[in-house]
Amino acid sequence: MRQIATVLKQLSNGSWLSIRALQPADREVLAAGMRSLSAHSRQARFLHGRFSFPSAELDYLTELDQRNHIGLIAAVLREERWHNAGIGRAIRLSPHSDVAEMALAILDEYQGIGIGTCLLRYLAELAVGRGMTYFQAVYASENKVIDRIVRRFGGVITERGDGVDIRIIKTGQILCDLNADLTSATPRTLAA
Ligand SMILES: CC(C)(COP(=O)(O)OP(=O)(O)OC[C@H]1O[C@@H](n2cnc3c(N)ncnc32)[C@H](O)[C@@H]1OP(=O)(O)O)[C@@H](O)C(=O)NCCC(=O)NCCS
Repeated sequence: MRQIATVLKQLSNGSWLSIRALQPADREVLAAGMRSLSAHSRQARFLHGRFSFPSAELDYLTELDQRNHIGLIAAVLREERWHNAGIGRAIRLSPHSDVAEMALAILDEYQGIGIGTCLLRYLAELAVGRGMTYFQAVYASENKVIDRIVRRFGGVITERGDGVDIRIIKTGQILCDLNADLTSATPRTLAA
C-alpha cells in the first residue's frame, strides 16, 4: 500500500480539518458514520435507505490498496479532540482505466463548510499521481450539491439515466484550483 500523508487544512470558518488515509481499522468509523447519516444524505450518497454495511462490504470499503482504490477520512478539531466528519474515495473503474468512480459522504452536521471540497481536492491530487485522469460521479439527478461541485471544477453531465445522472470531472481541473482559497498549516493543538 502506498503511503498517504495526513494533511491539515483550515476551513474558511476557522476550524481545523485533518485528512488521512482510510485503513482496515476504520470499519467502526464507517459503520458509525452510516448509522448517523440522515435518511436524506444516505439516499443521496448510496441511492438507498440502508442503515448498515454487510461485513463483506465493510472489508471492501476498508481494505484498500490506495492505488486503484483510494480512501480518505476527514476529521474536524473541536474542543481539542478530532471528530470524524466525512469520507472520500476514488475507485478505478477497471484495471487499466484512467477513470475512477468518486464518492463523498460528509456527516450532516458538518455539511456546507467546505469539507467535501477539501476531500475532493486531496483525492484529485492523489488520483492524478495514480493515473486517474477522470472522476465519474453517479448520483440522483436531483442531487444539486454534487452538480454544483461538478460545475465548479468544469465537470459535465455525460449521461442522463432514469433519475440517475453520470457526471465526469477532469482530476487535473480540480488541481488547478487546489490552493485557491484554503490555507495549509499546523494547528496549535493536535489532540489524539
Ligand atoms: C455532497 C457533499 C459531499 C458536499 O460536501 P460538503 O462538505 O457539504 O460541501 P462543501 O461545503 O464543500 O460545498 C461544496 C459546494 O456545494 C454547496 N453546498 C453545500 N451544501 C449545500 C446545500 N445543502 N445546498 C446547496 N448548496 C450546498 C456549497 O456552497 C459549495 O458550493 P461553491 O463551491 O459553489 O461555494 C455532502 O453534502 C454530502 O455528503 N451529502 C450527502 C451525500 C452525497 O450527496 N454524496 C454524493 C456526492 S459525491
